[in-house]
Amino acid sequence: MELSGKRILLIISGGIAAYKSLDLIRRLREHGASVRPVMTKAAQEFITPLAVGALSAGHVYLDLFSREDEQDVGHIRLARDTDLVVVAPASADLMAKMAHGLADDLASAVLLATDRPVLIAPAMNPKMWDAPPTRRNAETLKRDGIHFVGPMAGEMAESNEAGVGRMAEPLEIVSAVVKLLDGGPKPLAGRTVIVTSGPTHEPIDPVRYIANRSSGRQGHAIAAALAKLGADVALVSGPVTIPDPAGVRTVHVERAEEMLQAVISRLPADIAVMVAAVADWRVASSAGQKIKKQPGEPPPPLQLAENPDILKTVGHHEKRPKLVVGFAAETQDVVNNGRAKLERKGADMIVANDVSPETGVMGGIRNKVKIISANGIDEWPDLGKEEVADRLAALIAARLMET
Ligand code: C5P
Repeated sequence: MELSGKRILLIISGGIAAYKSLDLIRRLREHGASVRPVMTKAAQEFITPLAVGALSAGHVYLDLFSREDEQDVGHIRLARDTDLVVVAPASADLMAKMAHGLADDLASAVLLATDRPVLIAPAMNPKMWDAPPTRRNAETLKRDGIHFVGPMAGEMAESNEAGVGRMAEPLEIVSAVVKLLDGGPKPLAGRTVIVTSGPTHEPIDPVRYIANRSSGRQGHAIAAALAKLGADVALVSGPVTIPDPAGVRTVHVERAEEMLQAVISRLPADIAVMVAAVADWRVASSAGQKIKKQPGEPPPPLQLAENPDILKTVGHHEKRPKLVVGFAAETQDVVNNGRAKLERKGADMIVANDVSPETGVMGGIRNKVKIISANGIDEWPDLGKEEVADRLAALIAARLMET
């Protein structure tokens, strides 16, 4: 059975879809999982703890301040002693609490305390799903790495309104659980990878710096995708606002020189994927004190010095990884520039993308890339950055097999 031995903490929040959670418990157990249920107060208005307890064949956790429950396992252990946390149904209210880190009841406290993956199955009236606060909260939760299944389009149980908001069916939720917990093949098990991501910040003085528009989304997604294939991934990240990916060791650096040190100190490795938008220049001698504006004086000149090229250094290093992958962010003549870069940087593969402002690639969520290698040029369609990452990780695994 796909879920044999897997432990699932199922949080049931308030909503008419809670009746489907009873079936979900049954289905999860049929697939071999053990289910520990937590119910919010509102959930208990729709289904009873008695029914939930009978189907899960165990204790139902209801109260953050119950002495009995806290003595039994306690909310911190409840949050950690599981392979996956599933929230079904996830009400608009519980999503809002999760997005803001509120923890005033057992369900929300467990969600804040957990270090396990979380899958939510939202269910609410379509107007509530479409409302700007719910849109914002869903975005925040996705950025925080929360996995979603649904909501689906269709008729609502409580009214004849239609739209998006219906909870995914129990079997769809089970499939999402299997996908998350099983994880698929691990062709990169035992392989070590270094990924760079994000921009670098080059200080002008203690408060000012030179930067670029890189968000780190593509590099972080690649690190996560390689980890999913079983690789041992070290991610060297410049300053970004997105969270560290799950399953990856992230090192935070600021300047190009620090990034180079962090990368070199991690050699040897099997694979290097240099995605960071490293600043080509730093300020030759950044000031130790904030540069003051002097009335009547001309602006201070900025003397630049060239930064080390991390990709090129790795590509020609005596401990060169078997596979070195670089990126080429270009605004013109993407293919020719990419080809030249392959040679110059000692890379096996260059992922070239057009970052002209009209493409919205830099800082955006989509990417359209061309893969340039000795095998020729492969042009991929316009894809989400996660999808580009999954495909690239699969390609890297395949290429490594050939070497
Ligand atoms: O030369 P260019 O900056 O276009 O090359 C892009 C590729 O080189 C990317 O893979 C980037 O991460 C890497 N690079 C680097 N260190 C630099 C400049 C670029 O690793 N100083």
